[in-house]
Amino acid sequence: MTRIATLPKAELHLHVEGTLEPELAFALAARNGVDLGFADVDALRAGYEFDDLQSFLDLYYACMTVLRERRDFAELATAYLERAHVDGVQHAELFFDPQVHAANGVAIDDVIDGLLDALRDAAGRFGMSGGLILCFVRDQSVDSAAATLEAVAHRAGDLLGVGLDSAEVGYPPALFAGVFARAAELGLHRVAHAGEEGPPAYVVEALDALGAERIDHGIRSIEDPALLARLAASGVPLTVCPLSNVRLRAAPTIGEHPLRRLLAAGVQVTINSDDPAYFGGYVADNYRAVADAFALDDDELARLAAASVRASFAAPERKRELLDAVQAWRAAR
Ligand code: ADE
Ligand code: ZN
Repeated sequence: MTRIATLPKAELHLHVEGTLEPELAFALAARNGVDLGFADVDALRAGYEFDDLQSFLDLYYACMTVLRERRDFAELATAYLERAHVDGVQHAELFFDPQVHAANGVAIDDVIDGLLDALRDAAGRFGMSGGLILCFVRDQSVDSAAATLEAVAHRAGDLLGVGLDSAEVGYPPALFAGVFARAAELGLHRVAHAGEEGPPAYVVEALDALGAERIDHGIRSIEDPALLARLAASGVPLTVCPLSNVRLRAAPTIGEHPLRRLLAAGVQVTINSDDPAYFGGYVADNYRAVADAFALDDDELARLAAASVRASFAAPERKRELLDAVQAWRAAR
């Protein structure tokens, strides 16, 4: 058990807003004068029963209204990075949803600066590396996504890349082809949620129309043998989030999760937590869940961790350092 927490790993699919624990949500609500609409922490936590992605997103966006100032974002990300450090995360790429914060009246620079404050602090305290991935919410307009990207274009150097999240079905990736092309021009990496609830065709579109370098979730790729073969041959990684998939009913149980079959097809799979405050576990809990369900041995766990390092946007020398650390973990029996 504890060995999974010492396995050096990268977390690549993590919505920083999804790390907002109820206790911090209530503290920020009080400080910022926001009414969360729940009597207390227990009442809020009792609402964490989800039927699907949308039922989760409704609560998730409601809780995000407590985040108002630069220091709120710094405190949120610091709490996550401290927790991730305990789980053996040495490199973390944080998703954030600026359009939602803008609708709540928060300046985008405050969001970015607060998150960067926390990453800088974690680099100093824990030697952690990482960065920010700005996600466009696909259920808002393409014009809104394009305007958001232009608003941050002057500080593209503060971002690792862009992503695409929120309600999937009915919002195919190709809608955002122009926005992602502009992101590429700005030198940003590109990732996209696809094949979580949406069909395998959305994964194909994310690759072809967006130039996605990683697919977030992508588990419905299992339904399309040609796509599986393409993912395996190209080495485009999937950032899989097993506990999230079960909580949002994208997979019936951990035991029936397609992880094993994706690995067997030769797909580069990484393990991540998505929105750990809501889905009952941080990244080491996700590794433990699949290790138990599929009887993964140390070699297989080390391969998953090495895949997370290789799939990251860390600098080559940092990747080498982390891959060596994974090897050292494997060698220490
Ligand atoms: N935003 C936060 N978590 C998400 C998920 N699992 N899918 C899509 N958008 C999200
Ligand atoms: Zn996600």
